Amino acid sequence: MRSAGGATEALIDRLRRAERLVVLTGSGVSQESGVPTFRGEDGLWNEYRAEELATWEAFERDPELVWRWYDYRRQVLWDIEPNPAHEAIADLERAYTRFLLITQNVDGLHGRAGSRDPVELHGNIWRARCTREQTVYDLPECPLESIPPRCSACGALLRPDVVWFGEPLPVDAYEASYEAAAACDAMLVVGTSAVVRPAASLPLVAKHNGAYVVEINTGYTPISALIDATLIGRAGDILPEIAGHLIEVGGDRDQRDCAAKPTEGSRQS
Ligand code: OAD
Repeated sequence: MRSAGGATEALIDRLRRAERLVVLTGSGVSQESGVPTFRGEDGLWNEYRAEELATWEAFERDPELVWRWYDYRRQVLWDIEPNPAHEAIADLERAYTRFLLITQNVDGLHGRAGSRDPVELHGNIWRARCTREQTVYDLPECPLESIPPRCSACGALLRPDVVWFGEPLPVDAYEASYEAAAACDAMLVVGTSAVVRPAASLPLVAKHNGAYVVEINTGYTPISALIDATLIGRAGDILPEIAGHLIEVGGDRDQRDCAAKPTEGSRQS
């Protein structure tokens, strides 16, 4: 089934029957908050060159330039709030006992909307990592007082705790995501162009293992023809509608057994 626009009853029914739900998000989920996406007309990669700003080589060449770009993005995010799509995902988490949110976003907006412990496949822009000892620090100061920032313990350069092009994903995050994708009954794929692997493979892993996979996007993507349904529209319109149906029928979500949620590293079993 492929549906443009609102969710059908059959689709809601499939999601309702799922015991294990995975939500995978990309930058489109934050677009309605005012965060630019990466591709498309207003995408960051149209304006900036990824290889000059988001690679280890770029950082080695000019750490100040790279940090200035990340500090600019942090300042853009500073005044931004989560939108109804982030909130609906946090609501869904409370409605399912087995749930995992996997995000490619580094903006931290899911956490601010109330999602607990999302797997951040590409890191988080509000953290930094020591280039010598790999110690990870929260970096809430915005704008940064000193660029490039240095490790308070050893004085080495800090780098943004994000995944750059050519770098592997954090092993724990990828393993947890892969396991959850392989074990889930349903997956919602929200606001991602599904072109950057390995994240883009997760919906196909889910589909291959029998899950019902639904995409929510303002346009079709390379995975649209390979999954069960594509809902065309804005995540901030569609997700609250879906969450409303699921939570209403599921009863009082706050009385669900949230304590049974798996812990980090084995969120889906
Ligand atoms: P992209 O910019 O590639 O794709 C954003 C997707 O969101 C597109 O398919 C849009 O159609 C869709 N979209 C835009 N607004 C939307 C809305 N309001 N509601 C629903 N969908 C909407 O961003 P990502 O897929 O997140 O990696 O990109 C993946 C990775 O590529 C990023 O994590 C980043 C980037 O290079 C790294 O930095 C490692």
